[in-house]
This record gives sequence, C-alpha cells and structure tokens, in this order.
Amino acid sequence: MSKDTLTVTDNRTGRTYEIPVVENCAVSAMNFRQIKVDDDDFGLMVYDPGFKNTASCVSRITFIDGEKGILRYRGYPIDQLAKKSSFLEVAYLITKGELPTAAQMTEFQYKITHHTLLHESLKDFISSFNRDGHPMGIVASTVAALSTFYPDAKEIADPESRQLQMYRLLAKMPTIAAFAFRHSLGQFFVYPDNTLSYSGNFLSMLFKMTEPKYEPNPILEKVLDVLFILHADHEQNCSANAMRSVGSSQVNPFCAMSGAISALYGPLHGGANEAVLRMLRQIGKKENIPDFIQKCKKREVRLMGFGHRVYKNYDPRATIIKELAHQVFEVTGSNPLLDIALELEKIALEDEYFVKRKLYPNVDFYSGIIYQAMGFPVELYPVLFAIGRTAGWLAQWEEMLLDKDQKIARPRQIYLGEGERDYVPMDQRG
Ligand code: ACO
Repeated sequence: MSKDTLTVTDNRTGRTYEIPVVENCAVSAMNFRQIKVDDDDFGLMVYDPGFKNTASCVSRITFIDGEKGILRYRGYPIDQLAKKSSFLEVAYLITKGELPTAAQMTEFQYKITHHTLLHESLKDFISSFNRDGHPMGIVASTVAALSTFYPDAKEIADPESRQLQMYRLLAKMPTIAAFAFRHSLGQFFVYPDNTLSYSGNFLSMLFKMTEPKYEPNPILEKVLDVLFILHADHEQNCSANAMRSVGSSQVNPFCAMSGAISALYGPLHGGANEAVLRMLRQIGKKENIPDFIQKCKKREVRLMGFGHRVYKNYDPRATIIKELAHQVFEVTGSNPLLDIALELEKIALEDEYFVKRKLYPNVDFYSGIIYQAMGFPVELYPVLFAIGRTAGWLAQWEEMLLDKDQKIARPRQIYLGEGERDYVPMDQRG
C-alpha cells in the first residue's frame, strides 16, 4: 500500500524517520531537523545554493511546465492571453486571481490611468542623475524614492492600502521609465496622456516631440502591449524571489520592488536580450553562422537567447515573439538581424549538439531585435521587462504577505570558517 511518506535511514546512527510528502511533490525541510547524531546536534539542514530544487512558497499565480513548454497565468495559457487580452487585463488577472468583469476592468483602467503622474520633485530627482546613468539604476532608485512620498505604503496589512500602492506602481512605472529615457537624451519630460492606452501612453511619453498630440502606431502599440503580457510573471525567478525576500521584512512595496528591479538589472536575468543583439551583430551575415555554431559546440561562445533553466522545449513566449517580430518589421522595414536570427535558429534546431541538450530559443532570442526596430536603446530593454513584470512582482508580494506559512526570509548556512581564536594586536601580526 502506498503511503504519502518518505522513509529515511540515517546511516550514522541507524535510526529511521518517516517524513510526510506534501502535495505529492515535496518534503518540508524542517522535518529533517529532527535527524540528529546526538542531543547536542543542531539537526540536518538541506543545502541548495541557487534554490535549484527548493520550493520557497506555495503559489497560485503562474504555472510553468518546462519539459512541455507550457506557461499559464492563473490557469490561462500564455498564447490565449497574448492573442485575446490586454496587458492591463492580464495585470488585473495576475494581481487579483480572476479575469475582470467589464465594470471591474473599467474601474481598474481608470485607477491606473489616474495614478500615472509623478510628484514634481521626482522630476528633479531623475534629472540629478548623470545623463549616461543606466536607466535601471534610475528606475530602481526612483521607485524606492516613491516610498518617501507615500508613507501610507507602510500599512501593508491593510488591503485597501495594498491595492492603492499596486495602482501607483503599475501606473507610475511607465512614467518613471520614460522620464529616465528622456533624461538620457537631454529632452524635456512628456506628461502622461490619459486618452491613450497603457502602451500608447508609454510610447507618447517616450517619443512625443512638438506635435500637439502623439498618435502611436497601432501595430507597435499592440506589440508593446503583448510584450508586457509575455513578461508579466514567471513564477519564482530571481527578481520575484527578491521581491518576496525583501518584502518578507514587511518593508513597504516601493522598497521591496526597488530590490526586485535591482535583481532584474543583472545580466543573468533581464539582460540577455542585449547580449543576443550583440551576438547577431558580431555574426554579421548568414555565411558566418556555421563558424559560429562550431564555436558554440567547442564551448568558446554561447548561443545567446538559447537554453533555459526551466524550459527544455521551445519557450512558449519565444513562439509568440517570433510572430510579433514579423508584424513589427512590416511597419519599421526589414532588419537584416532577423534574417540571421531565423537562419541561426533553423540550423541550431537541427544540430545534434543543441537537440541533445534540449536547447531551444528563449524569450530573449527575438525580443532584442524587436526593441531595436522600435527605436529603444539597449539600456532600456530591461526597463521594458520591468514594466511588464511589475504585475507579477506585486502579485507575488501580496501572495507572500497573505500566506500564513511565510516568515521573514532568512536562510541557514553551513559554516566552514575559522573556529574561535583570540584577537592579535596589529604589531604582533605576521
Ligand atoms: N549555447 C551553447 N551551449 C549551451 C547553451 C547555449 N546558449 N546553453 C546551455 N548550453 C550547454 C552547456 O554548455 C551545457 O553543455 P554540457 O552539459 O555539455 O557542458 C548544457 O548545455 C547545459 O547548460 P547549463 O549551463 O548547465 O544549463 P543552465 O540551466 O544552468 O543554464 C542558461 C541556463 C543560463 C539560460 C543557459 O542556457 C545560457 O547561458 N543561455 C544563454 C543565455 C540566455 O539566453 N539567457 C536568457 C535566459 S531567459 C531569461 O532569463 C529571461
């Protein structure tokens, strides 16, 4: 008869323990603490740098099956949401758990549209950064600075206050990002236009010059909206984990999200699309692809935008982005980098090295060339990622706060440093 337990024998002592299996997929790490050599022993810990096999929480937001290439937000497949939904509707879904009714959507849209402005002092704050300062540093700092304008955000136990901060963050992220971009160009700041959509308004704040009203290209506006949807959440990735970890100290959500933005800034997380663009430029023309593939196989270089820790199949977001790339190039004119990317993908997907290792294009393989065609400088790519991911971070943060099992994030360590020793005065040190 099968039992939902694990029987563990400690060969150091010969004792046997029965550990419950939770949800048919995990064991509680705390159950290992009872395994001791003697009464003075602290008990066994589990060692897992990088959380490769540790579930840090129970979540009901995003489901990924990396083997099958499945991504769902709150149960809805990503391709259906990309085709039929809008970013704001997806943000509602992710943060509240269900798709909105028409009335709920109208109210949500109204709230987001009417929280887009920044306190005027924040313009001076953003202007005080160096012109060539990386926009991710500016965005992370400005989001943390929001906490000084909204001290009510510390009321994290109050659902209304949490909701208000979510409106503020979703609404103000595009404004902060656009102001950081305009500052880098030395251009005046463009205020939000409430008559435009979320992504249309963002394009207006980025690119409007002296025309009385900015008219976003509808295809580019739609593509950007879909890109925000594709980046909205990805379960317990590095920045979501940062959001939860910083937030677990019960700090306000602005400071917690500033931590998440900083985590995303790193090249191993939000920066790979930039690397893809550099790689495609370096390859230069289709004839150079076989040589490049050889270098990958000799492990001299990596095929950037390929491979994923979780997906061992086509990243479902990459399939959608590839289609979007074609739509964008119909507006902006063709980009020779796309031809190189398509050829590279074709060759790699047939090559035994990549097939055997289950290396497929990931979300970053095509997103960089789309962003480039739309006129975004490379430094802005992770910022675009952060705007979409705001929805996921906020949902992860609130889920963590409402989870009775969660405590302040505080891992254990295996100490291998020096034992106790006496202080040596400086003149006696060797
Ligand atoms: N090009 C060539 N070979 C690769 C690549 C690649 N892009 N990715 C993995 N491999 C090979 C490795 O050399 C290794 O081969 P070996 O077993 O013969 O030594 C094998 O595939 C497994 O690779 P790992 O590095 O162990 O896989 P891991 O899951 O740790 O890494 C990662 C995943 C970091 C994404 C990796 O595939 C990579 O570096 N890809 C390129 C960078 C990239 O596109 N990052 C974006 C990820 S998506 C995102 O974060 C939003």
